Amino acid sequence: MTTLMLVGATGLVGGAVLRQAQGDVRVTRIVAPTRRQLPPHPKLENPLVDFEHLPADAPWWAVDGVVCTLGTTIRKAGSQEAFRRVDHDYPLAVARLARQHGARAFALNSATGADPHSRFFYNRVKGEVEEALRGVGFPSLSIVRPALIGGDRDEFRPAEFVGHRQLNGSKRVRPSEIVRSETSGPTSHLGPAPEGLSSRLAIISSNGVCRSAEKVCNLIMN
Ligand SMILES: NC(=O)c1ccc[n+]([C@@H]2O[C@H](COP(=O)([O-])OP(=O)(O)OC[C@H]3O[C@@H](n4cnc5c(N)ncnc54)[C@H](OP(=O)(O)O)[C@@H]3O)[C@@H](O)[C@H]2O)c1
Repeated sequence: MTTLMLVGATGLVGGAVLRQAQGDVRVTRIVAPTRRQLPPHPKLENPLVDFEHLPADAPWWAVDGVVCTLGTTIRKAGSQEAFRRVDHDYPLAVARLARQHGARAFALNSATGADPHSRFFYNRVKGEVEEALRGVGFPSLSIVRPALIGGDRDEFRPAEFVGHRQLNGSKRVRPSEIVRSETSGPTSHLGPAPEGLSSRLAIISSNGVCRSAEKVCNLIMN
């Protein structure tokens, strides 16, 4: 992979992916559409966009692969509908446009418990976006399902704080243990693989706390 699109680059996980991609010799160019300017970097193209009105014809959609770490909380978004726009509709819109412009691989930072049939709204939305992405036709689709992710953020999120306290205090969870829960080889529903790239779906989960965004980032990038 030489050119990478990253959506969510201003966030906790996206920031870790951005740092890793900037230092990775295999990545020659990074396109990171954001709504807030990122610090400049020689490899970085940083179009400022409104995700409600993505420019479908922009030349920068033409990348080899996409990493999506977009996301919000219902509290921050203001409503379930607004949350769904960010965690479901925007990733799907990005996926479709990038695929139309030739992207062959897509990696989504999803969440543990993602399930389109869940009775919990958050898990249901995560499951629905995973399911919808399977239908976009990427030859390679990676879905990472971390539990809580450690790292510094400016904003205080009570649910994350309580979750970290609980998980860190529990003897039953094994922090940072990574479980490759579902992988499959050639998958016809993902469409034909381009020459030299095998068609695959990988779902990767973490059992407990992922102590750092960097760890999640390694899962996404590899
Ligand atoms: N953190 C965890 O413990 C954890 C655990 C499991 C799964 N996840 C999932 O992992 C993903 C990333 O998590 P994170 O902790 O890195 O999130 P984060 O720090 O809140 O970053 C979210 C990213 O999404 C962007 N975004 C949010 N609302 C937007 C909007 N309306 N328009 C455009 N961009 C918007 C943010 O841009 P701005 O900077 O412009 O707001 C930021 O780049 C999320 O989907 C989350 O559900 C997180």
